[in-house]
Amino acid sequence: MKKVADSQVIMHELVLPNDTNILGNILGGRVMHYMDICAAMSAYKHARTPVATASVDNLDFLAPAKMGEIICLKSSVNYTGGSSMEVGVRIESENAITGKIKHTASAYLTFVSLDKNKEPQKVESVKPKTDDEIRRFNEGERRYIHRKKRRNKS
Ligand SMILES: CC(C)(COP(=O)(O)OP(=O)(O)OC[C@H]1O[C@@H](n2cnc3c(N)ncnc32)[C@H](O)[C@@H]1OP(=O)(O)O)[C@@H](O)C(=O)NCCC(=O)NCCS
Repeated sequence: MKKVADSQVIMHELVLPNDTNILGNILGGRVMHYMDICAAMSAYKHARTPVATASVDNLDFLAPAKMGEIICLKSSVNYTGGSSMEVGVRIESENAITGKIKHTASAYLTFVSLDKNKEPQKVESVKPKTDDEIRRFNEGERRYIHRKKRRNKS
């Protein structure tokens, strides 16, 4: 059993001109790239094996991060199935001058632990402790079941 805290990652990036569109807002693709990296680090810290990104769902862009703002990504493992881990990522953007913080985006990514033959292998279960961790675990389990049903249908 592993604790949720074992997989917690906090990552900061400065939004630079090359990361933005003509409105000065961060590009969605750049946000997705940062999310994938942050979430992958959580999956590595949980599994301590190579991992593959299997899916990304519920990616909601809530407010744009602007050029010159600091973005902060926080991720941790919400739920573990057999070989898969659901990682939740939250991104906030902070105005570098005023310190005002906005919730920019959130998403759930599924990673699969791979063995030396690049085949899925079992991961240790995550053991939620706090009320928030237990809520995220239960919600993660529902999404895991829903994803399986969706794949079986297609
Ligand atoms: C993800 C991958 C390793 C799964 O391998 P697979 O042989 O299809 O695996 P299985 O069907 O045995 O499933 C293994 C686990 O992956 C999960 N899984 C497979 N496809 C999934 C998907 N699309 N979304 C979420 N979970 C998925 C299964 O639920 C299972 O989890 P569990 O063991 O916790 O129940 C494989 O599909 C792959 O390599 N995909 C490409 C990954 C990649 O290149 N990512 C980079 C971005 S393109």
